[in-house]
Amino acid sequence: MRVSSWREHSVIGYIQALLFTAAALTLWSYWREFHALPFMLLLSAVLLSARFCGFGPALFSTLLSVAILDYVILTPHLALSLSKAALAQLFVFLLISLLASSLARQQSRADLRAQQVQRQLADIVESSQDAILSNDVNGIITSWNGGAERLYGYRADEVIGQPIVILAPADGHEEIPGMMGELLKGERVQHYRTQRVRKDGKRLTVFLSVSPLRDDQGKIVGASTITQDITAQVRAEEALRKNEKLATAGRLAATIAHEINNPLEAIGNLLYLAHRNKQKAEEYISMAERELQRVASIAQQTLGLVRGAASLSRVDVASILDEVLNLHARKLRINRIEVRTDYRQAIQIHGHAGELRQVFSNIIGNAIEALPENGGLRVRAQRWQETNGACRPGVRVTIADNGSGISRQSMTHIFEPFFTTKKDTGTGLGLWLSYSIVQRHGGWIRVRSRVGRGRSGTIFSVFLPAAAEPSKAA
Ligand SMILES: Nc1ncnc2c1ncn2[C@@H]1O[C@H](COP(=O)(O)OP(=O)(O)OP(=O)(O)O)[C@@H](O)[C@H]1O
Ligand SMILES: [Mg+2]
Repeated sequence: MRVSSWREHSVIGYIQALLFTAAALTLWSYWREFHALPFMLLLSAVLLSARFCGFGPALFSTLLSVAILDYVILTPHLALSLSKAALAQLFVFLLISLLASSLARQQSRADLRAQQVQRQLADIVESSQDAILSNDVNGIITSWNGGAERLYGYRADEVIGQPIVILAPADGHEEIPGMMGELLKGERVQHYRTQRVRKDGKRLTVFLSVSPLRDDQGKIVGASTITQDITAQVRAEEALRKNEKLATAGRLAATIAHEINNPLEAIGNLLYLAHRNKQKAEEYISMAERELQRVASIAQQTLGLVRGAASLSRVDVASILDEVLNLHARKLRINRIEVRTDYRQAIQIHGHAGELRQVFSNIIGNAIEALPENGGLRVRAQRWQETNGACRPGVRVTIADNGSGISRQSMTHIFEPFFTTKKDTGTGLGLWLSYSIVQRHGGWIRVRSRVGRGRSGTIFSVFLPAAAEPSKAA
């Protein structure tokens, strides 16, 4: 591709080249000291043309100089014929001049490219949706793009020359000088979330990327700031978090109400029967008492679930698993899920019963939700000694299902808060909470899962050390 420079075609450039050459000739003709240096003078004219006017004018000056040398300066004067020695001199002159001209051509191209890149960058900045602005070391705004105009509501001519603190809220005026101080110390680009104010006084939550601007010597002369408005995003996140909290509370309340309602209904029926059939009254009343005990234990469990046990105590993992399976008994029955348990020994550890109940309730609940009808659930607990690190003794609980499995994509997110694939029913807090509870007990959770036709399923393993370090468990 041919790149042409305005300088190459500029008439002014050619006129300047003509003047440089004419000046050289004049100096040679009227100044005796220069009389012996015609080549030097004309070469200077070519070099000056190359430096200031570009390739075309330099070439023009070269040809003009060759003509002057041949016709005026070299003998025989005013004739085109030349001796061999003069021809050699002319040849060397031509060579040097052409070299200088071609260097000028390269310089012209590089300049042009730099100009084009600069113009393109300026266009990108101007058309960017993000607000991009710059300021000098004194915090005075020096540039302002269309995005900044849309975001802050100020036109460029209103803010350029104004202090940048006009964009900060009254309680955040110190932030900008502080940040500039850091930049001047040579700190790198800074990204942070903060507040800004629009021209109409509306507060915005923004994400800023501030980078230093340097001059040719590398000295910091200001800062450029890219501002993204994240007000809507922050509001949506807050609303989502609030909704999730409400949904969790709602779901918890519904589960408790449901679990309590069943035995209460049974108690009502049994009392009615006891009234009707006096002979069997005692039997009915003791059945009602058992149901009442169930209500009491549900209430106790739920309190433990919500509050967590007040302090560390000896906890029997097997009986916690029994309680949790009991809590889910109805769903297991309805979905005809085959449960196999394998935890004969009483395995005790130090921990919070309520919190651990929450962990196993969530993992087993997830398994039940992933299982189809007639699916299988296996719950196993065994004494276990870690094979690496401190090799602590403890208990390992394995909960395996042959349900839907967890996709590779979901696997990386399941322990993140609010990650759920159950759009309407899940909060995505279960595993996140479970993970932090197990961690507080000094243990770990691992998961393996497979998704595939006829071979899918998930295994959660939870290790709890026999003696949770009190500091961690606190
Ligand atoms: N056994 C499992 N089988 C298949 N997917 C699972 C299993 N356990 C967890 N998951 C996946 O992990 C996600 C996160 O689980 P988590 O318990 O944190 O939240 P949730 O169950 O969706 O919601 P919540 O626990 O609040 O009811 C689930 O949505 C599900 O996609
Ligand atoms: Mg869950």
